[in-house]
Amino acid sequence: QRINWDMQAASKGGFKHFMLKEIFEQPKVISDCLVGRIDKGKSEVKLPELNEFPTPERLHIVACGTSYNAGLWGQHLFESWAKIPVTVEIASEFRYRDVILNKNDLVLVISQSGETADTLACLRLVKSKGIPVVALTNVVGSSIAREANASIYTQAGPEISVASTKAMTSQMILLSLMALYFAKRQNNLDKDILKNALEGLSSLEPELNKVLPKLREKAQELALLYSGARSFFFLGRGVCYPLAEEGALKLKELSYIHAEGYAAGEMKHGPIALIDQDFPTFALAFNDSLFPKVKSNIEEVQARQGKVIALTHEKTSLTTVDNLWIIPEVWGVLNSFIALPALQLFSYEVADYLGKDVDQPRNLAKSVTVE
Ligand code: G6P
Repeated sequence: QRINWDMQAASKGGFKHFMLKEIFEQPKVISDCLVGRIDKGKSEVKLPELNEFPTPERLHIVACGTSYNAGLWGQHLFESWAKIPVTVEIASEFRYRDVILNKNDLVLVISQSGETADTLACLRLVKSKGIPVVALTNVVGSSIAREANASIYTQAGPEISVASTKAMTSQMILLSLMALYFAKRQNNLDKDILKNALEGLSSLEPELNKVLPKLREKAQELALLYSGARSFFFLGRGVCYPLAEEGALKLKELSYIHAEGYAAGEMKHGPIALIDQDFPTFALAFNDSLFPKVKSNIEEVQARQGKVIALTHEKTSLTTVDNLWIIPEVWGVLNSFIALPALQLFSYEVADYLGKDVDQPRNLAKSVTVE
């Protein structure tokens, strides 16, 4: 008797698409990224890859696409925890500018594949100036990993879906660890923050395992309501701004719906002119010090008849938005690790509802090795 089976379906582990499988792998990816790297008892972060580098006077993060959004997110942590000034640069811009690099600077290139042409070119350029480069990558033996002065591996496992999901989560975990590492080394960090961050990171896996099926249900419900939209804004402030950028990137990549991420406070400087009843907004409003500011930006959108989905925490005062998406609250910036899969699932469900090729969107490549 002949058994018919399909290699692709088998490797999707029962999920409809690789993307969905990879979204659901994120809790495990988080714990894999932490293995051997944190010692909660001693409140320590171990990143021996960084031991040889002095604490930089300035850190330049260089990347493309989703990796760039991870870098934008990491900037907040390096600044507030390690007190290191950070610039975050798009590789295809950085390489053609007269960027000022000083001898005590450090460049961090982020690349899931380790092969992105523009990011690799930046690495070579920086090295030729005698400035050290650290790579944050998922692929051992990739060009970027081989040529950097040191490589930190994200250990996310192979990412098949063209749209990056678990790789970004792994990059954010490593960026958090790097920021804590430099902060601790300089004795720059409040003990409570270190303790909360380490405990919070270790609790993410069970928390996310619990919440992912509920996030998917909500994403399905919203996909039914919003798949007809022709445009979308994604708004956020602070660490939610890079997440908003990523939410918009995912929606355009997968569903071909026009979407833009905006720093919520910039809306009034132009983009708000586009808002009407047919131009919805997806707002990220964590229960943090920026909440009142985001709330007032949401009200500005509502005053122009714009529909609003608000991703927020319990006991929110955002009671008048069209769709509330309440996610469980964890510690501080780590809320990003719950919000990001919500955004990924929203785009996934919209694209699937619209019948798009989720794993291989048109015109896109997993690894862009041309300029
Ligand atoms: C391509 C992929 C994106 C990815 C970007 C950067 O555009 O489609 O998903 O974020 O390249 O890739 P890298 O491998 O350097 O992180």
